[in-house]
Amino acid sequence: MNTVETIVELQAEIKAARDAGKRIGFVPTMGNLHEGHMILIDQASEECDFVVASIFINPLQFNDIDDLGRYPRTLAADQEHLRDRDCDLLFFPSVDEMYPHGQDAQTTISVPVVSEGLCGDSRPGHFDGVATVVSKLFHMVQPDAAFFGEKDFQQLAVIRKMVDDLNLPFDVVGVPTCREENGLAMSSRNNYLTEDEKNTAGHIYRVLNEISEKIQSGEKNFAELCVLAKQELVGHGFTPDYVEVRDAKTLRPAVETDTDMVVLAAAILGKARLIDNLRINLKQ
Ligand code: PAF
Repeated sequence: MNTVETIVELQAEIKAARDAGKRIGFVPTMGNLHEGHMILIDQASEECDFVVASIFINPLQFNDIDDLGRYPRTLAADQEHLRDRDCDLLFFPSVDEMYPHGQDAQTTISVPVVSEGLCGDSRPGHFDGVATVVSKLFHMVQPDAAFFGEKDFQQLAVIRKMVDDLNLPFDVVGVPTCREENGLAMSSRNNYLTEDEKNTAGHIYRVLNEISEKIQSGEKNFAELCVLAKQELVGHGFTPDYVEVRDAKTLRPAVETDTDMVVLAAAILGKARLIDNLRINLKQ
C-alpha cells in the first residue's frame, strides 16, 4: 500500500488503476483506525478492485478547538492496519493541501434539513464541515463507490442527500456498526473512556434496544420513551444530549404512522461524547 500526500500523486495512482479497468472504492476517515473502519475497507474491497482510504483530521468540522487538538493522531498504526487488509492506496493530505487558500476562504457546502437538529444542534457548523471536505475528497478521488459507517447515521444521511442533490455519479454504501461485546459502538472517541466507563457505555445500546422493543410492541408515545431513556442514562452517570425517534430516510421527528424509523442518542460520559443509533423497521 502506497501513502501519498498530494492531490497530484493521488490522482496519478487512481488514473493508473482506472485505466487498468479497476472499480475504485473510497473510504474517507480521520484516522485512529479501529475494527469499525476495517470493515469499511473489507466491504470496499469486496465490491471494488482498488481501495483508496483517506486520513484527514478536518479542522472545518470541529467547532471546538480543544476537541480538534486532542483528536488522536496515529498514522504509523493506521498504515499497519490498512496494510493488513486490502487497502491499495492511502491519501494523507496536509491542511494546506486540502485548504490552500485558507479555511475561511473555502467554498462550503450546506445540506439543509438533515443537518439540522440532533448533532447539528450541539455541534454548530459540524455538518457543513463534513459535507465540504467529503465533497472535495469525492471530486479528488472520483470513486465508483464510497463507504461510510452507519454509526454516524446523521452524517450518512447528510452525505447521501448531498450526493443525490449534486447528482454525483456513484454509490454511497452504509456499513453496519461494529460493536464491542457489551454493545458499545466502536469509535475513536472510546479512547477517551476509562475501563470502567467502557463497561458503563454499553448502556446506550441497551437503552436504544429497550426503545426499539417498546415501539415494536405497539408503543406510540415516542417523546415519553425518550424522556425515560434519558433518565435511565442519567442514572448510569451519563449526561445525555439527545435521545430521539426519527424517520429513517428524512430524519424528521417520527410520527405514529411511520414504519421505517431510527432511534438516535448522544450522551457524554467522562471525557467522551458518544453517539449511537438503532433502526426500527415495523414492516419486517
Ligand atoms: O466520519 C469521519 O471520520 C469524518 O466525519 C469524515 C467522513 C471522514 C469527514 O471528515
